[in-house]
Amino acid sequence: MWIFGYGSLIWKVDFPFEEKVIGCIKGYKRRFHQHSTDHRGTPEKPGRVVTLEVGCEEDEVWGVAYRIKEDDIEKVSAHLDYRERGGYSKRTVTFYPKDSNKSSLQLHVYIGTEDNYNYVGEAHEADIAKQIVDSAGPSGTNIEYILNLAKSMREIAPNINDEHLYKIEMNVLKLLEEK
Ligand code: SIN
Repeated sequence: MWIFGYGSLIWKVDFPFEEKVIGCIKGYKRRFHQHSTDHRGTPEKPGRVVTLEVGCEEDEVWGVAYRIKEDDIEKVSAHLDYRERGGYSKRTVTFYPKDSNKSSLQLHVYIGTEDNYNYVGEAHEADIAKQIVDSAGPSGTNIEYILNLAKSMREIAPNINDEHLYKIEMNVLKLLEEK
């Protein structure tokens, strides 16, 4: 079984895996349009985390695919279903490795679709940044979430300009400077 990570699953890997491949899925956009009430915020003061929205054919979301060993599938699936319980459901999508000598593969991805209770949709990037700076939950601060994600994306996909992510990161850094 393969799992695709495009948010915290890129930088917080708390499950065993046998192989890790950098690449992308197509036809989706990574967006901070999902509330987090269980990890990076609380029900009273939700944080903002990423989900995937259907985009156009040219849209790509870069991240990491993990191959889970047969013997670990049940344990890892249960762990990740619990970790991603805040509105995410599992979909099967096609993954394209960065290394074009490797072939595409089918994998699972956790998506907070528009009908889940934590989906909040669009907001101005500066307002999303304000919410992130003000939020924390049982897993830590929302600031840590976005800074780790942006740092990881620069490492794994340095040539990809993920405008939405980097614009919000820039606004977060500006707000932190002003504090
Ligand atoms: C993911 O990382 O693939 C799912 C979203 C998240 O937990 O941040």
